Amino acid sequence: MKVTEAQLETWGERVGADIVTPVFFALSGDLGAGKSVLARAIARGAGVSAAMPSPTFNLVFHYDGRDGTKVIHMDLYRIERPEDVWALGWSELGEDREIVLVEWPERAGALLPPDRWDIRLDYESAGLRTVTATQVGTVPPLPELSA
Ligand SMILES: Nc1ncnc2c1ncn2[C@@H]1O[C@H](COP(=O)(O)OP(=O)(O)OP(=O)(O)O)[C@@H](O)[C@H]1O
Ligand SMILES: [Mg+2]
Repeated sequence: MKVTEAQLETWGERVGADIVTPVFFALSGDLGAGKSVLARAIARGAGVSAAMPSPTFNLVFHYDGRDGTKVIHMDLYRIERPEDVWALGWSELGEDREIVLVEWPERAGALLPPDRWDIRLDYESAGLRTVTATQVGTVPPLPELSA
């Protein structure tokens, strides 16, 4: 489905508000595709009010949402090999009320969890992206994306 930035943000906020936790989102797409835009919208929907910087030097950030929800935002662009995720707290992910948002998930290779939503963003034109959500393993349902 093709969406504007506003539509992607509206959907992301609903995802953050409605999703059953724990849940893992692998957010893929090229540089500037909108992974961080979507990650921030999901976090806002989950009740995170803090500003969310891009995880560049610090590759992982933890946020508190509403009602005990935890949001973990990671960017794996700069890791050199999949095993580098262990140093980022990878083995503790997926606890009770967590929403895990991972940009550049392909860097984790076979260490990605078997149960996850793969959300792919593809550049269409200046303000439009195509969003493709693929269920991998057992995952909670996503709110419908409507343009
Ligand atoms: N439909 C759209 N959806 C998302 N972002 C859009 C859309 N149209 C334009 N944009 C713009 O595209 C950019 C997306 O940037 P963003 O930081 O989210 O990319 P990213 O995928 O996280 O890149 P990186 O790999 O560098 O982390 C923003 O500047 C945003 O304003
Ligand atoms: Mg980003």
